[in-house]
Amino acid sequence: MGHEGDCFLVPGPVRMNQACLEAMSTPTITARGTEFRDVMARLNSGLRYAFNLTPSSSERKNQSWTGDDGYKVIVVSGSGTAAMEMVMANRFRHNDRVLVPTNGKFGERVAEMGSRFCNVKHLKYEWGRAFDFGEIEEQLARGNWEAVAICHNETSTGITQDATELAEMCQRHGVAFIIDGITSVGGLPVHPNEWGAEAVVVGAQKCTAGPSGIAAIAVNQHFIDRCTAIRNQDDSNPTYYLDILAALKKGDDDQTPWTPAINPAMGWAASLEYLKNEGLEQRWNRCALMAKGVRNLFTDLGFELLADEFFRSSTVTAIMYPDGIDDSWRTRLKDEYDTQVIGAQDHLKGKMFRVGSMGETTVSEMIEGCKRMISCFEDFGMEFSQVEVESYFE
Ligand SMILES: Cc1ncc(COP(=O)(O)O)c(C=O)c1O
Repeated sequence: MGHEGDCFLVPGPVRMNQACLEAMSTPTITARGTEFRDVMARLNSGLRYAFNLTPSSSERKNQSWTGDDGYKVIVVSGSGTAAMEMVMANRFRHNDRVLVPTNGKFGERVAEMGSRFCNVKHLKYEWGRAFDFGEIEEQLARGNWEAVAICHNETSTGITQDATELAEMCQRHGVAFIIDGITSVGGLPVHPNEWGAEAVVVGAQKCTAGPSGIAAIAVNQHFIDRCTAIRNQDDSNPTYYLDILAALKKGDDDQTPWTPAINPAMGWAASLEYLKNEGLEQRWNRCALMAKGVRNLFTDLGFELLADEFFRSSTVTAIMYPDGIDDSWRTRLKDEYDTQVIGAQDHLKGKMFRVGSMGETTVSEMIEGCKRMISCFEDFGMEFSQVEVESYFE
């Protein structure tokens, strides 16, 4: 059946399903009672699934936050940036050298934020270009690095880094691997344990289709040991609200140190339940199918994609506007076609648009959205050869 109603194709925040919305409208419960700890246990267990970690119990008092792989998940009241700040502030000392290769806005943010807490070397590649692995290897070979930190899926440019290759490099050189997985976890293959990643961050409002304002981190034992050691040496960056050791103290008890984001946590637990029912790999596949369809369709129509071929993301596609078209196309798309995509950031503003293929977006919504985008481009005088949009999404 075709899609009816509006098409909301932005790379997060994404639409939440009815179960999530209803869970968030549950009457207030206390922050420390058993009811909330039940919620946390379900949330922790659902998060472990989304992070692609070994399973845990979803029952209170059963160590819902951890599993056989030794990773622990920590829920953060705040958006993805708060969770990333918790990682960078707690894990590093001021002089620790951290290599941050970037090719878009969010990677650059990792570098900018990191430089408040440690000694960052920013390897800044052009937006949308793949990292130069030779250069990264060369840098690491010079030694004396504490970590490599990356934005795994660069939402601003629609590029996904080859995390497997980077993980191998980190392992070879004995440095920590830190990942902003805010638009990859739950939407495309992420393997924290195989990659030996010390910390991976996710934001609820992206691939897991939860509410905005809540995020989580998966950390391994080495990460915890380092945070503890530098705190004991009195060498850590100042933190209070984002003190990861305070959060770790509460984890076993399915609790958080401060008043948690109670209703968002309830909503997120419901979205993660839905993800489990769909299946993680099925979700990865659906996102990949939609992104591939968008890429091929717009390429065939004569558009240029920003990201380097072979590294294009499954959860967001960045498409350049042809000459003569700008963001007034997006305004018309929203006003007249009830369809939303998102624009670009910084120097690419007005030069391209981005289509999200994450969360619970259905293939039929994507097909309908693409048809409306094409019609809207035609309103701007563009002419295309006939295409059968459906055939791109089979
Ligand atoms: C890859 C990536 N990192 C970080 C962020 C910032 O996350 P938040 O807005 O949840 O703080 C975003 C938001 O779009 C993102 O896509």
